[in-house]
Amino acid sequence: MLAPLPALAVDAVVHTSNIFDPVSAPADSVFRIAMLVLAITGAIFVIVGGLLAYSIIRYRRRRDDDGSEPAQVYGSDQIELAWTVIPTLIVLALGLVTARTIYDVQGAVAPQGATRVTVIGHQWWWEIRYPALGIVTANELHVPASNEAGATPTFLDLESADVVHSFWVPQLAGKTDVIPNRRNQMWIAPREPGLYLGQCAEFCGTQHAHMLLRVRVHPRDEYDAWVAAQQQSAVVDPSVAAGRRVFESTACINCHTVRGTVATGRFGPDLTHLMSRDTLAAGAALMSGESLRAWINDPDHVKPGALMPAMKLDDAVLDQLVAYLQSLR
Ligand code: CUA
Repeated sequence: MLAPLPALAVDAVVHTSNIFDPVSAPADSVFRIAMLVLAITGAIFVIVGGLLAYSIIRYRRRRDDDGSEPAQVYGSDQIELAWTVIPTLIVLALGLVTARTIYDVQGAVAPQGATRVTVIGHQWWWEIRYPALGIVTANELHVPASNEAGATPTFLDLESADVVHSFWVPQLAGKTDVIPNRRNQMWIAPREPGLYLGQCAEFCGTQHAHMLLRVRVHPRDEYDAWVAAQQQSAVVDPSVAAGRRVFESTACINCHTVRGTVATGRFGPDLTHLMSRDTLAAGAALMSGESLRAWINDPDHVKPGALMPAMKLDDAVLDQLVAYLQSLR
């Protein structure tokens, strides 16, 4: 029997995915320009809607109408000039502001000390690699806060292993598409530590909605500690040797890596520090022994269409395997 999966817990420091509450430089720019466009288009809406409402009420059909047409006006140079020149100026102004914002965001150069991360979109999870640090993880991006000791932004190279995805953490930056055979770039510079929620923002198949993304922003020292922990090879725990044998003698190792073991597959997430992650299957379930067991037993039940096959292990072997995975801290 499958145990029911726990719902996603609400983290004490969760930031919402509210586009109106930016906490990072590119999201600030996106927010400012969105507010400008909203103000201008809002004013146009009020003026046009107001005139329309005024005309509808002022010139409504009345009981004493005699049915004749009012005096007709043919052409007005002033009015035609106004409704040509004013929209042109508005479009020009919005175009220039947009161009400047795009240039500011896309033209930013990584300063010395910027964190560099490669994010690879897969159906349906995120591979997260820190090439300079030798760290590989999944679905949860850890970065330093960019407020103390100057700006320490994180620059992301975005790649896809299969189809088009889109990387979007609304409070940190605008969406950037993740496209096969292409490397797109973006950056974030979150000011406040905490957990930020994101989501794949381009339909990429059946589990697009379960391609969630978490960004953990740490104070510098906490981030450095996380890096040091992730750089370690997998812990060797003799009490779970049986489960390790199961893992290393089944198809698990074709798709997964556990650093320091024979498992070097790259099709699925790196499991070296599996238990350091909050969630499983790109946010489809909260990380726990129970959900791991349900996932390995029948991934399709947890995440219909998931590309991980059901391993069809008997209960005792499954327990050993879960015990081993739970030792990967
Ligand atoms: Cu990946 Cu939608």
